Amino acid sequence: MTDLTALIAALPKAELHLHLEGSLEPEMMFALAKRNGVKLKYGSVEEIRAAYDFSNLQDFLDLYYQGMGVLLTEADFYDLTFAYLKRVHADNVKHVEVFFDPQAHMERGVSFETVLNGVTSALKDGEGEFGVTYKLIMCFLRHLSEEEAFELLSIAEPHLSQIYGVGLDSSELGHPPSKFQRVFAKARELGLKLVAHAGEEGPPEYVWEALNLLNIDRIDHGNASALDDTLLAEIKSRELTLTMCPLSNQRLCVTEDLTENPLARLLRAGVRVTVNSDDPSYFGGYINDNYLAITKALNLSADEIVELARNSFKGAFLPEAEKNAYLAEIDRISV
Ligand code: HPA
Ligand code: ZN
Repeated sequence: MTDLTALIAALPKAELHLHLEGSLEPEMMFALAKRNGVKLKYGSVEEIRAAYDFSNLQDFLDLYYQGMGVLLTEADFYDLTFAYLKRVHADNVKHVEVFFDPQAHMERGVSFETVLNGVTSALKDGEGEFGVTYKLIMCFLRHLSEEEAFELLSIAEPHLSQIYGVGLDSSELGHPPSKFQRVFAKARELGLKLVAHAGEEGPPEYVWEALNLLNIDRIDHGNASALDDTLLAEIKSRELTLTMCPLSNQRLCVTEDLTENPLARLLRAGVRVTVNSDDPSYFGGYINDNYLAITKALNLSADEIVELARNSFKGAFLPEAEKNAYLAEIDRISV
């Protein structure tokens, strides 16, 4: 295991499923609350961590939206994003494709530009300081309406040089991908890449909708695909990547136990699966913690760990030449 821990640490990796707001550590939550004069309902960092005991996705989302209430200024979004980049640089992450949830801030009176400027300045500075390259993905909150998603897309339109793709997150059950078919078609027309959370708590039918109605380029989570062999065959034939998040699945009770996570089965069935942290400050681990936990729970071999790291670059929205450079770096490390 020591060898595998060292291998995980040494491998260059891309993180493809990360909500910036979910990287808000309790320490920073306190610091920003103080800086902004926001009153928290917790008295200490320990109290916040103790509250992170979830039985499903909605339980988590309630605290996630509450926690991000301390993010008000451009400097707050900058600090949040920069801290995440610094942390994953230590895990040997070379490239990130990160989500942000503008609607959750705009409904608190924070402007779209405040959020975007803070996030993008930190992404640029992080690339300069740590060499971590990036793409930014703007998510639509699926519990809100199609009309509100269209409104967000039109607000974002003048800024599309800074946004690479759109995603779909928040409460999955009762909000199928079909609800956003038209707004995703419009995003595609605008030249954006398309991803969507599907099959985290929702059934295989939601993954089918993401494939066939939204025409997504990548699936976030996708756990439910393991329940439908025809769907798995379709995902394989389209060479779609699944951005899986094992510690998140465990903490949100999507899987009863890490040993039951479908990741290894999908990997062994030839699906391009990747390992990611989702909301690391809420789920108890960054990317290497996720690799390590799943390696132990599912008995992954060194070759399988290397394959997961390779998949992270293959599934990234990077030009072929850049992907190949990272894959060559992995080859040098894994021989
Ligand atoms: N699922 C859906 N929405 C989210 C998540 C998640 O795991 N994290 C942040 N928003
Ligand atoms: Zn997610």
